Amino acid sequence: MSSRVRPIVRRWLSISLSTLYLGAAPLALADSAILEGERFHPQVGEHGMVATSHYLASQIAHDVLAKGGNAVDAAVTAGFALAVTQPRSGNIGGGGFMLISDEQRDEVIAIDYREKAPAAAYATMFQNDQGEAVPQLSRFTHNASGVPGTVAGLALALDKYGTLSLAEALAPAITLAEEGFSVPPRFAEGLEQAQDRLKQWDSTRKVFYKPDGSNYRAGERFRQPDLAATLKRIAAKGPREFYEGETARLISAEMQRHGGLMTAQDLADYQPRIRQPVHGNYRGYDVYAMSPPSSGGAHIVQMLNILEGYDIHAMGFNSARTIHLMAEAMQRAYADRAKYLGDPDFVDVPLAGLTSPAYAAKLRAEIPLDHATPSTEIAAGKPLPYESNETTHFSIADDNGLAVSNTYTINFSYGSGIVVDGAGFLLNNEMDDFSAKPGAPNAYGLIGGEANKVEPRKRMLSSMTPTIVKKDGKNFLITGSPGGSRIITTTLQVVMNVIDHGMNIQSAVSAPRIHHQWLPDEIRIEDGISPDTQALLEAMGHTLSQQAAMGAAQSILIEPDGTFTGGADPRRSTSSAMGL
Ligand code: DON
Repeated sequence: MSSRVRPIVRRWLSISLSTLYLGAAPLALADSAILEGERFHPQVGEHGMVATSHYLASQIAHDVLAKGGNAVDAAVTAGFALAVTQPRSGNIGGGGFMLISDEQRDEVIAIDYREKAPAAAYATMFQNDQGEAVPQLSRFTHNASGVPGTVAGLALALDKYGTLSLAEALAPAITLAEEGFSVPPRFAEGLEQAQDRLKQWDSTRKVFYKPDGSNYRAGERFRQPDLAATLKRIAAKGPREFYEGETARLISAEMQRHGGLMTAQDLADYQPRIRQPVHGNYRGYDVYAMSPPSSGGAHIVQMLNILEGYDIHAMGFNSARTIHLMAEAMQRAYADRAKYLGDPDFVDVPLAGLTSPAYAAKLRAEIPLDHATPSTEIAAGKPLPYESNETTHFSIADDNGLAVSNTYTINFSYGSGIVVDGAGFLLNNEMDDFSAKPGAPNAYGLIGGEANKVEPRKRMLSSMTPTIVKKDGKNFLITGSPGGSRIITTTLQVVMNVIDHGMNIQSAVSAPRIHHQWLPDEIRIEDGISPDTQALLEAMGHTLSQQAAMGAAQSILIEPDGTFTGGADPRRSTSSAMGL
């Protein structure tokens, strides 16, 4: 090891806590470019930061920033790269939400590229003749898919804020799909675990398994020629190719072969929407998060409003009292979610009421300080009436005041499990996020009613919560997470860990999490909540349920002096934050 290398490696070890979990570290150290410091990216930066759930996407986004691209250029390029490197959640067959904060214009906007129900969808389409919800139908069939929004959404972001052409933003993804990449252990494990579900579809088996049907192993090269061809068509002809060109034809043909409701017209009709994010204030910080058709923004602001009334810092991180109060706030927010939230183009969501400090004060007054409220005693509250009117998250920020918080998904890991034959990408199973029937839980146990019933061309309710926190007009914290129903509470905890507990971003992301979603009546806890804290919570009447890791909150914090710090979530072994 040359003397030039040592300080770099030492700094790398001290800064990059999460990288130690990655399994990528030994490979990286063996890489001569890293040893020469050429590709060394600490989780601290002067000029920008990227945090994604896959080191190849992070590397690509980092390179875009390093070459003078802005945060939106980097985000769109990363979004397409993840569709290749992380097909369990990165996608062009799904949808999502992107928050963009432009400090210079003092604006934060949201791009809603959530999937939409086909025009022929109907309220009882996922029920049997007895009127019972049939999860298989909304999860693992061609009708499980909403009309994908990702290509239109990413292209809109690039068009509005980017400096790259769509072809430039697609180029790294095309190379990765064409030339392939070395399979990381997590990739191989995921496909092995899902093989029973995925191999039943010929189109999926052809793409994700070897010609003899066997599984890819870590370290082997994985190429996706059909996906490369699809991305090339989009690069050559623009985003409408996906909706009206050969790709649309391949999707419609796939639907027709299997009796799916989605038509060529549904694809041609798809448009993303620009929306106002939800805005709230927490202890002097401005919180912006995704508005309906996601429930994330409404409820993160609602929960923060409730919790602002307590001295959480003094109560301490993950103390029994803190967890109790968080769980009580969470229960009330999720009870409201079940009743009030849906696509705002179809239902009136009482957003101002839900996010008002006065409503939070009313809910707070009902929270006992020393014992759990059983969920049976909680129902949706009465906010002021309607005013008239497996997923992956990444965060990217540049030194020109632009920040991007993006969460997108095909819902389950590998979505419906169905690859569009000839087009090489997986379709989402987002239709399961609708209420198949009032009161029937979706895959995350979330209950919904009328507001979220299936209707033609409607967007299904989401929990995705891309969030940007500003302080004194400056971008401060960029965060969000996958994790189904736990997305909102995961994001809440990153915000609280930074603002209430003063944690650095890596600690805020890594710290053990809790979750309550009203029903079932339990606090889910990760490893790391002490046994005496658990005993105190149980004595208050809480039921605890130990869970595997929850969420993957790739996050960025920008210090007041402009230093960028990245928090890559160790819960995903390929996570990576890179500063420049
Ligand atoms: O939109 C939603 O809320 C869900 N479809 C997200 C799914 C998810 O986060 C799965 N990943 N872990």
